[in-house]
Amino acid sequence: MSIEKRFFGKLDGKGDVDIYKITNKNGAFVELMTLGAGIHSINVPDRNGKLGDVVLGFDDVNNYLNPDLGYQGLVVGRYANRIRDAKFSMDGVEYNTPKNQGTWTLHGGGRFSFNIWEVKETGNDFVVFSFFSPDMQDGFPGNFTMNVKYTFDDSNTLKIEYFVLSDKKTVANPTNHAYFNLNGAGSGSAMEQILQIRASHYTPVIDAKSIPTGEIASVDGTPFDFREAKPMGRDIEQANDQLSYGHGYDHNFVLDKERAGLEKIATAYSTKSGIKMDVITDCIGMQLYTANFIQGQKVQGGAVCKERDAFCLETQYFPNSINEPNFTTPLTEAGKSYDTKTVYAFSIA
Ligand code: BGC
Repeated sequence: MSIEKRFFGKLDGKGDVDIYKITNKNGAFVELMTLGAGIHSINVPDRNGKLGDVVLGFDDVNNYLNPDLGYQGLVVGRYANRIRDAKFSMDGVEYNTPKNQGTWTLHGGGRFSFNIWEVKETGNDFVVFSFFSPDMQDGFPGNFTMNVKYTFDDSNTLKIEYFVLSDKKTVANPTNHAYFNLNGAGSGSAMEQILQIRASHYTPVIDAKSIPTGEIASVDGTPFDFREAKPMGRDIEQANDQLSYGHGYDHNFVLDKERAGLEKIATAYSTKSGIKMDVITDCIGMQLYTANFIQGQKVQGGAVCKERDAFCLETQYFPNSINEPNFTTPLTEAGKSYDTKTVYAFSIA
């Protein structure tokens, strides 16, 4: 294993962004950047041994700053996904968070994604990024530090560990927003790729704002049933209110697992490249987002991506859980560190 640092680019008004490239003994490599503690690329071999980048990224670092381009590869904090009406109450106090989309908060307002993180530590196979957010920044209580450690290994496994510490009781729901295409970024639709998710339930949404109703609904007999592996896009055009609200899949799955410990909860596979990706997590939820809102995006190498040319598997607590009595609230107690892990493991099947 080896690590190399290089300058990536200048961010308008924000400084220099660096990339840390971690390479394993077979030459497979990941590139992680100080902007948003993001994944810039994941280069793994296909069944012929040819290396390809299986996540979308941008050649121009400034493109990552545009929220309309979808938070590609970026870490999302403090609170992933939606907060209804951009507010929540905790112990009788109301907190107001940014209305950065419609009337709600999306991805914590974007602060953790669109800023440069400090590098705390590196080793041959890992890098630790750190971001500090002061008490009440963007309306969230607590002087709050998030460290994100990425580790890559010789078996092409990328592990992401999130460590959170706050000096006041607060909410924390970190995730990573990588867009995967197992035939390679910019290679066209990902919807033929096979997906299996260990989830018997999902959280339906009220309308096109994609805020959950609070119901935990069975996937039985719906296009949301991924318990048996199927091409991701097989049922995506079915007449179904939920799919039309999201313009495709943009929904949280209730994972069939215990909270404690890492478990494999999803597998994606491309029959074309032979690349398989297992998702292993200790989270209780996962958003499947079929890149429904990307339009004409120029990704690395100049290829242009459109909707459905990638998919996201964002491990998380359920969206809007801080306002939803039916969902587990991701609370962090003062001075008590909280950590969560997700692993993306690549192989050939
Ligand atoms: C959301 C989508 C959103 C995308 C990019 C996903 O997590 O669920 O609605 O368009 O992130 O911000």
